[in-house]
Amino acid sequence: MPTSKMARPIPVAARVRRFSYAIRNIVAEAQAVEASGLRVRYLNIGDPVAFGFQTPPHLIEAAQRAMRDGHNGYLPSPGIPEAREAVAADCARGGVSVSADRVLITTGTSEGIDIALNALVNEGDDVLVPTPTYPMYTAVLAKVNARPRYYRTDPARGWLPDIEHLRSLVTPRTRVLVVIDPNNPTGAVYPASIRRALIDVAEQHGLTILADEVYAELGFEGAVPLLATLEPDAPIISLSSLSKAYLAPGWRTGWMVVGATPRLDGVLAAVKKLADGRLCSPGPMQYAVTAALTGDRSYQAVFRRALADRARITAQALNAIPGMRCVPPRAAFYAMPFVSLPPGRTDEDYVLALLRATGILCVYGSGFGMPAEQGTFRIVFLADPAELSKIYADIGAFTRDYLERAG
Ligand SMILES: Cc1ncc(COP(=O)(O)O)c(C=O)c1O
Repeated sequence: MPTSKMARPIPVAARVRRFSYAIRNIVAEAQAVEASGLRVRYLNIGDPVAFGFQTPPHLIEAAQRAMRDGHNGYLPSPGIPEAREAVAADCARGGVSVSADRVLITTGTSEGIDIALNALVNEGDDVLVPTPTYPMYTAVLAKVNARPRYYRTDPARGWLPDIEHLRSLVTPRTRVLVVIDPNNPTGAVYPASIRRALIDVAEQHGLTILADEVYAELGFEGAVPLLATLEPDAPIISLSSLSKAYLAPGWRTGWMVVGATPRLDGVLAAVKKLADGRLCSPGPMQYAVTAALTGDRSYQAVFRRALADRARITAQALNAIPGMRCVPPRAAFYAMPFVSLPPGRTDEDYVLALLRATGILCVYGSGFGMPAEQGTFRIVFLADPAELSKIYADIGAFTRDYLERAG
């Protein structure tokens, strides 16, 4: 082969240019800072295990036993019947009646998002996603070549969706409404009136709701009901996993529940067809789904209390920093504060400067679809309270200096 051809770089597919996932993309920058000798405190990824919260022993035992018992081969594509039945029974306990046949065991909520959007959306279609959003949705839409239409959530009202804005974005090409409740990155929990309004918009325009309910058990005032409890016949696909409330994110095990309405029968068939194409989700961990959903859950109450405590510390400390404000989170382990940026600066400028000066790694709000000049960033507040207080003192000192130097 001629050398000139060999020397030419191999081209990358165009979709990769559109694709971005800021939560991990920013790690390269943190590694450069670490290489310079500064300790980095990684507050970018929502992994409770990385902060010392332990996977419940009965889940570990179930996965280990499955391996020892020889369950190491391929499994049925939609998942093992025991796990699918356990998810359906858990939905029934929560007030949503659905047959196990409509449950798919997935490689985390992430794969559920990927499969559901691939089953529902054509190239050029529109999908309604909140701002700020969990960026996996927009990352998958970039691959599918569909268009995210961002509906506002309002920090002045506890980050609740702006229903009028949402309505104004619907086009004849809109297919899906993404609802993340409880929310990452804001920690919001939606009241029944907003949930009802979201269902009404979807029903009026024939949209499917993708209900991301991975934090449902992590409301500080107790578990948040599934969206489908409000309207059992609405076309809702619910997604969740073992990653957050069951403290096993590395197991990559979750589930998708396709609502009982016959309007979703074609989508259910499509989802199963796509699932066949990835063989099955991780095997031994599927046995832990049954253990997680039928066994002891008292650790979740302990985890919720620990999170509520950290959320209080977070909102108090950040609201005491001049130039910063933060809506108190009501669930999960994220907060999205605002910093009043000097003109011309972006949220990414601020986050990178904070990282380089203090080693504290957060993610800039524009990585979640927020306007860069609004100065939002996301903090994961899973560190222990003493460490968190130190982190917030460092953020406060840095921010005072940053704003003073700019002013
Ligand atoms: C709202 C939301 N959905 C989905 C995921 C992905 O979760 P999983 O580990 O189940 O793939 C996350 C992870 O942070 C999330 O915050």
